[in-house]
Amino acid sequence: MSGRFVIDRLGAQGDGIARTEGGELFIPFTLPGEEVTAARAKDRADLIAVLAPSPERVDAACRHFGTCGGCALQHMRDEAYRAWKRERVVQALRGRKIEAEITPLVACEPGTRRRAAFTARRTEAGMLLGFNRHLSSEIVPLEECPVLLPQIVAAFGLLRALAGLVCATPKPFHMAVTATASGLDVAVREAGRIDDRQRRGLIDFAVREGLARLSVDGEVVVEPRQPVVMFGDVAVMPPPGTFLQATEAAEVAMAGLVAGHLSRARRVADLFSGCGSFALRLASKAEVHAVEGEGAALAALDRGFRFASGLKRVTVEKRDLFRRPLTARELDAFDGVVLDPPRAGAEDQSKQIARSQVPFVAAVSCNPVTLARDLRILLDGGYTLNRVIPIDQFLWSPHVEAVALLEKPRRRR
Ligand SMILES: C[S@@+](CC[C@H](N)C(=O)[O-])C[C@H]1O[C@@H](n2cnc3c(N)ncnc32)[C@H](O)[C@@H]1O
Repeated sequence: MSGRFVIDRLGAQGDGIARTEGGELFIPFTLPGEEVTAARAKDRADLIAVLAPSPERVDAACRHFGTCGGCALQHMRDEAYRAWKRERVVQALRGRKIEAEITPLVACEPGTRRRAAFTARRTEAGMLLGFNRHLSSEIVPLEECPVLLPQIVAAFGLLRALAGLVCATPKPFHMAVTATASGLDVAVREAGRIDDRQRRGLIDFAVREGLARLSVDGEVVVEPRQPVVMFGDVAVMPPPGTFLQATEAAEVAMAGLVAGHLSRARRVADLFSGCGSFALRLASKAEVHAVEGEGAALAALDRGFRFASGLKRVTVEKRDLFRRPLTARELDAFDGVVLDPPRAGAEDQSKQIARSQVPFVAAVSCNPVTLARDLRILLDGGYTLNRVIPIDQFLWSPHVEAVALLEKPRRRR
C-alpha cells in the first residue's frame, strides 16, 4: 500500500523513520525532513519518490546505490553524514550515562577499502558476483564500487571468471577478497567440492592472472606469491580469510591513537590481537603479549615478529577470551592494555580489567553499543575516560569504529 510520509529521523541502520498512526515506519534512502511517497509492507516501506528533498540530499556516488545492500547513506551531504555517524557514538555513550570528550569523526576516503566479502551464484544468464540487495539474498551484480580499492574494482571481471571456475553448486557461495602488497588474496567458501580437473584449472588461472593466493574452504589451492600486509615496518602473511581492519588508513589512525596513549607503557597486553596490527607496531617501544582465539592469526603474528628486526619481545597466547578472560591478577603484570574485540564486545574481559591496576587502556570497537557497555564497566572500576575518537572505517554504511582512551592512577602497594 503506497502513501505519503514525512521522515522524522534516521534509525541506527541509516533508514529514514516516519511516524505513522500504525507506529514507526522505516523507509531506506530518505533523509530527515523529507516528504516522500513509499510502498508500505508492515513496518518497512520502499521509497517511490522524494516529493520534497532535504537540503542535505546529494546525488549518490554509485549507480548501484539504492539496490546494493552495501551502502545506506550515499545520498547525504558529507558534513551531515559525518555528524550522524559521530552521533551514533554519542548516543550509545549517553545511553550508559557516559560523559566524555568525543572528537569529530575521522573521515574515510572513497576507494580505500581493502577487503570485500562478495556473494556469487551461477545462473542461466551467467555468473553473478556482487553484494546482496538490501535485506535480501538476491545478488546485485556489480559494475562499479566507489568504496573499494581500485585494484579490487578492476578485478571484477577476473573474479567473476574465477567464480565460474570454482563453482560446483547451484547455491550462492562466498568470495572474500583482500588487496595485499603482493596482489589479491581470494578465499572462497561453500562453492561445492572441486575435482582434480577444476583444481588444475584454478591453479593455472591464479598463476596466469597474478593472484597472490587462492584458498577454498580454508585450504590453500595455490599461492604464487605470499600475501603480505605491512603493520608499520613489520611484514605479516595473514592466513586465508582472517580478520584485517577494513581500510589501511583507519588501521593506521587507530594504531597511532593507541600507541600515543600507551607511550609510557613498557609491558602491553594486546587482547583480541588478530595478526598483530597493534601488537607489532607497539613492539617497537614495549614488550607485548598478544592474546587471540584464532591460532592461525597468532602464528602469522609470531612469524612477523621473528622475521622483523628492532622489536622488543613479543609473546603470543591462544586463548578464548570470552570463556577465559585474562584475570585482574594476570593483567597487573602489564602497564598497558589494548582491547579490540568483535562486535559482541568484551564484557567479562572488561570486568577483569576494571578490577586490575593497569594504568593505561585503549579500547577499540566496531560497535558503539557494546563499547558503551564495556566502558561503563571500566568507569565503574575506577577508570577515567580521556577521549573517544569515532573513526569512519565503513564508508556510507551505518557502521562506525571508535577508539576510547582510559586511565587509572596506580595504587601504591
Ligand atoms: C575486531 S578483530 C581485531 C583484530 C586485531 N586487533 C586487528 O586490529 O586486526 C577481533 C579479533 O578477536 C578475535 N576473537 C573473536 N572471538 C574471540 C574469543 N572468544 N577469544 C579470543 N579472540 C577472539 C578474532 O579472531 C579477531 O582476530
